[in-house]
Amino acid sequence: MLSISVKEFLFWKKKQLSKGGDQQSFAVLLDCLGDVPIIDQNLMSINPEGKLYLKNDLDYLGSIWDNHLQESHPIQYLCGITFWRNLKLKVTNKVLIPRPETELIVDIVFKIFRKKSQKLCFAELGTGSGAISIALALAYPLSNGIATDIDQDALEIAIKNFRDSSKQSNLKFFCGNWWSPLENFKGKLDLAISNPPYIPRDTYEKLPKEVKNFEPKVALLGGEDGLKHFRGIIQKAPLFLKEKGWLILENHFDQGEKVKELLIKNKFTSIEIVKDLSGIGRFTIGRYK
Ligand SMILES: C[S@@+](CC[C@H](N)C(=O)[O-])C[C@H]1O[C@@H](n2cnc3c(N)ncnc32)[C@H](O)[C@@H]1O
Repeated sequence: MLSISVKEFLFWKKKQLSKGGDQQSFAVLLDCLGDVPIIDQNLMSINPEGKLYLKNDLDYLGSIWDNHLQESHPIQYLCGITFWRNLKLKVTNKVLIPRPETELIVDIVFKIFRKKSQKLCFAELGTGSGAISIALALAYPLSNGIATDIDQDALEIAIKNFRDSSKQSNLKFFCGNWWSPLENFKGKLDLAISNPPYIPRDTYEKLPKEVKNFEPKVALLGGEDGLKHFRGIIQKAPLFLKEKGWLILENHFDQGEKVKELLIKNKFTSIEIVKDLSGIGRFTIGRYK
């Protein structure tokens, strides 16, 4: 550990941030590669007289920050870590960096299934880093969760994240195409969740560098119109949900009405488009009959 005065550190931090980037990314860098927990970072300006201990020196941290700024390389991939709800999750370029807006999926589930002692049987299709499933498995300890992904490398990250977040064993992981790993759960699910790849092809081509050059294409591209995966997921959902079971989907900012139509066509009821914190109809939810 390297010792440095807080004053010197704050001066250096100001200089780094003047080059560009945002406070939140800088906090991730300091937490993960400097070993300065976010809570301590927030307290530093209150007590600038103290000393600080860093895992890596300022030159090294500065070089990672420069890489982030110059190459648009997401800080989460450079550090190998992201923060999501109350979880600290490992991420590599094999998984999408879970987005803050996706955190609301967990709140939607909390609203539907209020009792945390419920023995829910839930499945998440396309788990990526495992964020959603892990949050649910922790919140509903008596539940049985299944998290799937088409990418075995992504699944390995999700498995590691679950082991690092919990000693529980109520979440299982399976590799395969959407519903195919869930054959044994036909008619058994209280809840299915998916944040599938939903970016239309022409939008995908124009995505910002930090997304297109670094995040997995398989996690983003939703076919020509972005709806390809919703069609498959919604069509087969009735086979796997219990009667009155819920399907919760995250969609692109303008896809809510189209996803709703697909749900109606497949005999879902209680359909609702739920807005995210920016007022965008980000989630479409429904019940099977
Ligand atoms: C938008 S990411 C969502 C990841 C994570 N659930 C989250 O919200 O951060 C979509 C995920 O679906 C997975 N996926 C893509 N095609 C799939 C398929 N055909 N079957 C299962 N999973 C798939 C991707 O590998 C990726 O992890």
